[in-house]
Amino acid sequence: MPALNHIGLDIGSHSIKAVQLTGAFEAPTFVAAGQIDTPPQAFTQPGDVDSDESIEAVAGAIKLLHKEAHFSTDKVVTSLPESQIFTRVVELPSLKQSEIKNAISWEAEQYVPVPMTEVKLDWQVLGNSTTSGKVEVLLVAAPINLISRYLKILKAANLTPLSLETEIISVVRSLVQRIEGAPTTMVVSIGASTTDLSIVSTGRISFTRSIATGGHALARGVAQELGFELDQATEYMKTYGLDPNSLEGKVMQAIKPIFDVIVNEIRRVLAYYASKHPNIPVKRVVMTGGAAKLPGLVVYLAESLGIEVQIGNPWEGISLPSHAQNKLIEEATSYAVAVGLALKQGGG
Ligand SMILES: Nc1ncnc2c1ncn2[C@@H]1O[C@H](COP(=O)(O)OP(=O)(O)OP(=O)(O)O)[C@@H](O)[C@H]1O
Ligand SMILES: [Mg+2]
Repeated sequence: MPALNHIGLDIGSHSIKAVQLTGAFEAPTFVAAGQIDTPPQAFTQPGDVDSDESIEAVAGAIKLLHKEAHFSTDKVVTSLPESQIFTRVVELPSLKQSEIKNAISWEAEQYVPVPMTEVKLDWQVLGNSTTSGKVEVLLVAAPINLISRYLKILKAANLTPLSLETEIISVVRSLVQRIEGAPTTMVVSIGASTTDLSIVSTGRISFTRSIATGGHALARGVAQELGFELDQATEYMKTYGLDPNSLEGKVMQAIKPIFDVIVNEIRRVLAYYASKHPNIPVKRVVMTGGAAKLPGLVVYLAESLGIEVQIGNPWEGISLPSHAQNKLIEEATSYAVAVGLALKQGGG
């Protein structure tokens, strides 16, 4: 296997995270990491034609991050935001390799709500379903516009793209696939604007979903309920979170109805999965993303779901330099996507 030595770049709606690792996938060595706020000019609605200003603003932030964090390569693997991609695990009857392509195009036409000419289709054969015996395939349809925006950003940032993938694939690589014999796991990544869910069984992604609720929505809830400005509400959310004992539980009460949108989605996905795979129970939920640091989150979720809940550690098995160790561990939930991208083999 070729050794790693590229940057994993995660361009989030709230912040841009980047990690460079080197060495072998099994025993990677840390080179550099850093994050920087995503500039406000970056925001565009999905499907918008992107302005040069937005591309330049994001590229400028990436250039600054590259310089400040002292990365030693310009090669990058980056992720496309799950919320703007159509990802689905489909079951196909056992087909010959030559027949799979047609079957996949047909499947994609059924569920991708935009014309096939506007997306780039990719897929990964996962293997045979343990229940139906059919072939499970992970289908990914990425809007061509989105890919071209990302390539423009990387070019403007003087970086060389090696490959693109979707966030769920990266997060699963850093948090689950490196652990041999990991039990069937749900991974929930709560970012600023979206929450991505996936289920991984015997190392394979067998379900994916993205919803438009994240840290921003939680902070907006606090702002509305308690009459704060958004910045102050964000600080209250980060400090008191879902702790029922702080401030008489006022912050928790403001967050709860919005956080429960995420909890209910987790429940729905668990129930759906249990009905489809009754003999493969999901054993634990691994949380990640910036908003997974919400105080009281693990207790609240474990009580609501009645299942083991953990915070994922993307730095597992990667030795960190002592001067940066504390900060990187403190920010571990933010780096799961970037670490997964940095671990992509054949990408560097
Ligand atoms: N200690 C904390 N407690 C709760 N929320 C936090 C904490 N620290 C950061 N957050 C929230 O996490 C979010 C940022 O997380 P992250 O960096 O994963 O987002 P992103 O990747 O930029 O967003 P997205 O993936 O949705 O585009 C923000 O909403 C921020 O307020
Ligand atoms: Mg993110």
